[in-house]
Amino acid sequence: MDILRGQLYLSPMQKNPTKIMDLATGIGIWAIEMGDRFPDATILGIDLSPIQPTSVPPNVSFQIDDVEDTWVHDDDYDFIHMRESCAYMRSTPTVIENAFHHLRPGGWLEIQEFHWEAVSENGTVMQDNPVNAYLREMYAYGQSEGREIPIVPKLGELMRQAGFVNIQKRMFKVPYGSWHSEPKQRRRGTYLAATCEILLPSCDRLLSTIGLSPEQIDTLFGDISAMFHEGTVQSYATYYVWSGQKPG
Ligand SMILES: C[S@@+](CC[C@H](N)C(=O)[O-])C[C@H]1O[C@@H](n2cnc3c(N)ncnc32)[C@H](O)[C@@H]1O
Repeated sequence: MDILRGQLYLSPMQKNPTKIMDLATGIGIWAIEMGDRFPDATILGIDLSPIQPTSVPPNVSFQIDDVEDTWVHDDDYDFIHMRESCAYMRSTPTVIENAFHHLRPGGWLEIQEFHWEAVSENGTVMQDNPVNAYLREMYAYGQSEGREIPIVPKLGELMRQAGFVNIQKRMFKVPYGSWHSEPKQRRRGTYLAATCEILLPSCDRLLSTIGLSPEQIDTLFGDISAMFHEGTVQSYATYYVWSGQKPG
């Protein structure tokens, strides 16, 4: 989607890091790209699932582990990164605290994450937007499970509570669907809508658990899909990049 225009991170990390960790690395794309970018650093990607490739740069390795458990890793990392994974965590604050304890003084934590709430051009939340109708159901479910959602706008506060300083927030608007006139934004929006449409059906069991009928779920998904395809509702999701530094 290239929201950051080719940049892998935005934190003002030192020029020559030696130890980098990627939490919930997934198939390890970010870790591998960082391995190429910093051949003198070691990059450790961690994930619950063994879905990473085996043919990777020599300075990149993967470990199957739970980042919410007690870490046995070194405590001198220069940079710890997590992307698109908060929603999977039982406790994001625990992960942030773990990262704090395993950075060297002066090291940086960066969390990149979508906040899905649909907003208009001027950032106003669109109450009647179908994505927001869907999110209200998900928030209710999350709260019933004791999870704090939406958590993305609050990550800076969680970093502060864990002890981080120099906290920075950058926000990027990504259109829902291909309505935008600017080609790069149109491409991002098309990709975002396609990704959402692939992921949404996997949530139908969850929505029925919280009491929605099959008809209500069909209507909700149909409204979202129509919004993506018709382009008459011009709304955006927001991609957050949070950075925080461990005091030196
Ligand atoms: C959306 S994917 C992450 C994608 C990846 N960070 C990227 O940007 O390409 C979310 C990942 O979180 C992993 N995950 C979820 N809970 C985890 C945990 N407690 N510890 C480690 N990995 C976890 C899942 O296995 C999944 O691979």
